Amino acid sequence: MRPIGVFDSGIGGLSVLQALQAELPHERFVYLADTGHAPYGEKSETFVRQRSLAIAQHLIEQHHIKALVVACNTATAAAIHVLRSHHPQLVLVGVEPALKPATQLTRTGRVGVMATQGTVGSEKFQRLLASMDPGIHFEVKACNGLALAIEQSTLPAHASPAQAQVGQLLQQYVTELGPFGPQSGHIDTLVLGCTHYVFAQEQLQQLVGPGVRLISTGEPVARQTHRLLQSAGLLSPQAAPAHAHGRVALYTTGDLEGLKAAAQRWLGLPGDDCHAAVGV
Ligand code: DGL
Repeated sequence: MRPIGVFDSGIGGLSVLQALQAELPHERFVYLADTGHAPYGEKSETFVRQRSLAIAQHLIEQHHIKALVVACNTATAAAIHVLRSHHPQLVLVGVEPALKPATQLTRTGRVGVMATQGTVGSEKFQRLLASMDPGIHFEVKACNGLALAIEQSTLPAHASPAQAQVGQLLQQYVTELGPFGPQSGHIDTLVLGCTHYVFAQEQLQQLVGPGVRLISTGEPVARQTHRLLQSAGLLSPQAAPAHAHGRVALYTTGDLEGLKAAAQRWLGLPGDDCHAAVGV
C-alpha cells in the first residue's frame, strides 16, 4: 500500500494532515516539514518552486507516494503548475485561501484574509481574488513573521518568547484588518490563508470575537484528495482500518525535536514516528 505524501514549509501542514487522517483512515501518510528552509512566505517564488520540485522528487523516489498534497498555500501558489507539468501521472492536490466559501458565508459583505507575503503577492492569488463577486470586499493582509513565530512556538527551547510574539503579531494584524463583528461595515468572516495559522485559531477567535467565522481549508482538501484517489482507483482497501501506529511517518529538514513536539502536541503522535529527512 503506497502512502500519500504531504509537505509544507514546516508544521503548518500538520493541520491538513489531521483532516486527511480523519477523512482517509485506511491510508498511510508520509509528511515532510521543510523547516530547514522555512519560512517560504518571505522567500522568492523561484526558491519555493525549487524546494517544492525537490521535495516531490524525494517523496516519489524514496517513499513511492501515490499522491501528493501540497499542504502549504505559499508553495501551491508558487509551484502547483510546475509540479503538475513535471508529474502528470501523480494525484496532486494543493491548498488555496478559501475565498469562495467566504463569499457564501459573509453577511456583512466584508471578508478578511490572512496569508503570507508569497501567497498574496502571487499571480494565482490575484487571479482568484479578481474572480470573486465584486459585491464582496476582501481586506487582505500579508502577515510577515507570523508563520515563523508559530513554528518556533512549538520548539521547546524557544516556546515562550515565540508564543509572546505570536500574540503580538496577531494583535497587530487583527487591528490593521478590523473592525470585526456581525455589524454592517465590519468583517464577519476571516480566511486563514496559511496552514500555520490554524494553530493560532483559538487566540485569533478571542481577538476577533465569537461572532466572526474563521475559515480554513484542511477538510475540503481532504475531501478533494479522497475524490481524486477514488476516481484514479488508488484508494487503499477498506477491509480494516490501518493500525494507528505506523500510519504516519514524519520527516523534517530542520530541528527534529521541534517536529516531535509539534507532532505530539497537534496530532498526538509519538516521537518515534519523526525522523530527519536525508538528501532533500
Ligand atoms: N504554511 C505555509 C502556507 O500555508 C507557509 C508558511 C511559511 O513558510 O511562510 O502558506
